[in-house]
Amino acid sequence: MDVFSCMASRRSIRSFTGEPVSEAQLHAILEAGTMAPSAGNMQAREFVIVRSAEARRAAADTSDAGITARGKTLTQQWIATADVIIVICYDPRRMGARYGEKGRTDMSKLDCMGVAQNMMLAVTALGLGTTCVIGFDAVALKHSLGIPAELTPMLMLPIGHPAPAAQGGPVFRLTPGELVRFTC
Ligand SMILES: Cc1cc2nc3c(=O)[nH]c(=O)nc-3n(C[C@H](O)[C@H](O)[C@H](O)COP(=O)(O)O)c2cc1C
Repeated sequence: MDVFSCMASRRSIRSFTGEPVSEAQLHAILEAGTMAPSAGNMQAREFVIVRSAEARRAAADTSDAGITARGKTLTQQWIATADVIIVICYDPRRMGARYGEKGRTDMSKLDCMGVAQNMMLAVTALGLGTTCVIGFDAVALKHSLGIPAELTPMLMLPIGHPAPAAQGGPVFRLTPGELVRFTC
């Protein structure tokens, strides 16, 4: 699959068949993540693999999808139905040691998004499905999965084989013409 068709066919997938993601597929996805660019090539990012049903449920329980009118926080329980979840984390101290506050914040987070995009394209090219998830409580997730203190979880990628019709229709996108403000 060439990169343009891969980008065009990628959709957020939130429903899975339950068929396992193989170790070879998982390795290929992780390797794609390592190929993402990194500010100063510091690569201050690490991946936590969540495989067991119990750990996936614990991860889903830390998620949120907004607050209802009655003040109850909704969770994203579909996350637990993925076969494997990759939690993309960063180490703010490592990036901060070189770039100060901007390293601890913007650079670390943008590095994680580059990793996520590479991984999502790899997932698509492998015929699997995922969604980039930021709706979770990072402190609660660290606590429930026992993620080391120096790491900050930034994004989750719950990955699995897409359920039939999981993809839905084409998603609305603004065109380049609508997004380019001016040319100098
Ligand atoms: C940084 C980021 C965070 C996101 N967080 C969530 C999330 O917490 N839950 C979710 O269901 N989708 C999440 N999404 C997926 C978006 O809703 C999705 O990309 C958007 O609706 C466009 O659909 P598409 O991915 O199929 O093109 C996130 C996407 C990005 C880029």
